[in-house]
Amino acid sequence: MDPAREPATMTATPSVHAPGAGAGISLNGISLTFRGARTTRVLDTIDLEVRRREVVALIGPNGCGKSTLLRVLAGLIKADGGAVAIDGQPVTGPDPRVGLVFQEPRLLGWRSAESNVRFPMELAGWSRERQEARASDLLGLVGLREYARARPGTLSGGTRQRVSIARALALEPSLLLLDEPFSALDALTRERFNLELLRLWERTGTTIVLVTHSIPEAVFIADRVVVLSPRPARVVADIAVGMPRPRRLVDLDSALVSSLAADVRAHLADTTDDAIAMEEARRAIPAGLTPKDRPARKHAETEPGTPAWFDPFRPEDES
Ligand SMILES: Nc1ncnc2c1ncn2[C@@H]1O[C@H](COP(=O)(O)OP(=O)(O)OP(=O)(O)O)[C@@H](O)[C@H]1O
Ligand SMILES: [Mg+2]
Repeated sequence: MDPAREPATMTATPSVHAPGAGAGISLNGISLTFRGARTTRVLDTIDLEVRRREVVALIGPNGCGKSTLLRVLAGLIKADGGAVAIDGQPVTGPDPRVGLVFQEPRLLGWRSAESNVRFPMELAGWSRERQEARASDLLGLVGLREYARARPGTLSGGTRQRVSIARALALEPSLLLLDEPFSALDALTRERFNLELLRLWERTGTTIVLVTHSIPEAVFIADRVVVLSPRPARVVADIAVGMPRPRRLVDLDSALVSSLAADVRAHLADTTDDAIAMEEARRAIPAGLTPKDRPARKHAETEPGTPAWFDPFRPEDES
């Protein structure tokens, strides 16, 4: 098979992680300022609770601090204010309970797909036999067994992302952090991967925090969509997605997804001075909702930093 071609699906292999193994996360008052040639305040007293096995999508403008927040959660950067805990235990450094898929796949080019997946196990001192058995299970889980010997440079972007996901699952993390994992994919492949991620989640039981710029993707995948402000990031909305699981791709076209997506869009537009984004948010609000059904209105009226002259719910004749 041509390794650059996208394989059909992540295959249904037996669970390699017992369902229910996900961790609960708690972020309390997380603040971070990068100090160097320039001082950049990136995170502003972020509070966030994620329950075990919950899937939370983080969405916010470019450069607001999403990747930084994931690094803090993974223990790769220390916040200068606040506390991070996983299952009640503080995160004080790189944490083996966390699997992180970076925004750019960071595979080792000289190693095969299988060897990349084994890499964290090698570092953890696992026996070669145990590494190989686990890597084989994981490559099966993401539908890549036949690519085991391929080098990353010969694989398509989507296939490399699957290898990264398999590697992130290597040490059986109870928390999986995904930083825009599907941004390099074409629209249809991306939808298929969204579904496959949900199937993977059903089989592994891992708590997931996913960063995405796609509003429909956030709503389709997550139990909650958390909207962040421009830098320094703070939580401006936390929107529950009350959509039953298992979800199917046709749900993407449902009225509920459209309505939730409009709500997320309105909160995002609220945080920006981009006139086009605001106009689109205004148009996207479904006609039937009354103001009291729209949490965005409450935000627009109460949150500091909201442009006073913009209210996405104000009827045209009042503007
Ligand atoms: N190690 C660092 N040192 C100094 N500044 C940094 C560092 N890492 C990130 N930044 C700055 O912090 C801000 C937030 O960066 P971050 O990568 O977290 O944003 P993001 O929300 O993930 O953006 P994008 O949507 O483009 O991926 C940016 O201004 C970035 O330049
Ligand atoms: Mg980022």
